[in-house]
Amino acid sequence: MRGLKGNIIFTKDFGKYEIFKDSYILIEDGKVKGIFDKLPEEYNQVEVKDYGDKLIIPGLVDIHLHGPQFPNIGLGLDKELMPWLETYTFPEERKYSDLEYAKKVYRKLVLELWKNGTMRSVIFASIHLEGTKLLMDVINEAGLGAYVGKVNMDRNCPDFICEDTDKSLEDTEKLLKDYGSRYERVKPIITPRFVPTCSTKLLKGLGELSRKYKVPVQSHLSENKGEIEFVKELHPEARNYASVYEAAGLLGEQPTIMAHCVLLEEEEIELLSKNKVFIAHSPNSNSNLASGIAPIRKLLKAGIPIGLASDISGGHSLSMCSVMIEAGQVSNMKWLESGKTEAPLTTPELFYLATKGSGAFFGKVGSFEEGFEFDALVIDDSDLTVLKEISLEERLQKFIYTGSWENIIERYVSGELIKEPKI
Ligand code: GUN
Ligand code: FE
Repeated sequence: MRGLKGNIIFTKDFGKYEIFKDSYILIEDGKVKGIFDKLPEEYNQVEVKDYGDKLIIPGLVDIHLHGPQFPNIGLGLDKELMPWLETYTFPEERKYSDLEYAKKVYRKLVLELWKNGTMRSVIFASIHLEGTKLLMDVINEAGLGAYVGKVNMDRNCPDFICEDTDKSLEDTEKLLKDYGSRYERVKPIITPRFVPTCSTKLLKGLGELSRKYKVPVQSHLSENKGEIEFVKELHPEARNYASVYEAAGLLGEQPTIMAHCVLLEEEEIELLSKNKVFIAHSPNSNSNLASGIAPIRKLLKAGIPIGLASDISGGHSLSMCSVMIEAGQVSNMKWLESGKTEAPLTTPELFYLATKGSGAFFGKVGSFEEGFEFDALVIDDSDLTVLKEISLEERLQKFIYTGSWENIIERYVSGELIKEPKI
């Protein structure tokens, strides 16, 4: 048993902070044991690290990003999705057959995740099996948690990145066999890129693999109008885009994340809700690629689990604070657009989505309730307050909106102190 002392803030319920000023949080076997304003006598001997007036918050969780797009971050944001993929993204992703290049990028990526306090993430690697393994090795070495997928794509893409269907399935199965239980915190995830680049045979084969190995699934859904029209052309037999994944056993039979979901039809919303599919809300990316504004309030009301995501390099920042800010801003626009009916997201709601909302994909992650993994950040925000006395709640809001990675002075995953990864 160990303890930390400081100002503890988290969200157990959507949109409501739990705040414990100057309190103790006890950790046993990497999990939260409890929070106390005074240490009970029985725990007098427990070693406590005192962080004084600093904030202790759950580690941030990013449930959708593209590792090999990291070199493109901040670049090529002048096109919509399909031409953006062709012009900027596929040419970068082809490079990951070169393991030396992959190693350099992935080490830098993991350092940046660490810096930004993203303690767990769900990642698309590239089509390359060895590069995907390498990314998993690098994340594991750093002590962070992740699901990492080898991307599958076998149609409607340039030759240099288009896979043979059988080889794509074989490589995926190799990853599941080799890396399924290699690491405790870094696991594989089935990763069809999206319907436009995956044949029905490939999707069905991936559905079978996810079932056989009980592996979760991630993909993209209804991000952009042109994409949706293309899916309709490719699948005239399907009721809608989401049902193409469902027909292949890729929509919630195993835990599933669908990125974006900006333009879902009502029936698709019902389907995602029924199948408990997570939506990875990626507002930076949706704004940069002019995809639109996902109706998050409506999707929440439909009971769909939602987490936040950077979606680099559609998104231009790995910072989950940047993602929270943009999610708040676009929700304001949605509110206006809806005739002020769809209420904007509040700061505690945004914070919930970036912690417990996203963390739920990993199990008991993203909160400090008893039994949750102790993933945490210690925040020194002393340079952020400008003279005025403010509450703990306001200090957290200031950190989100005006802080930087330099305010994060310590990071924990499952109770383990995570030092800066060497690159
Ligand atoms: N849809 C298919 N591939 C991608 C990708 O790499 N980024 C985004 N934003 N959407 C996609
Ligand atoms: Fe994406």
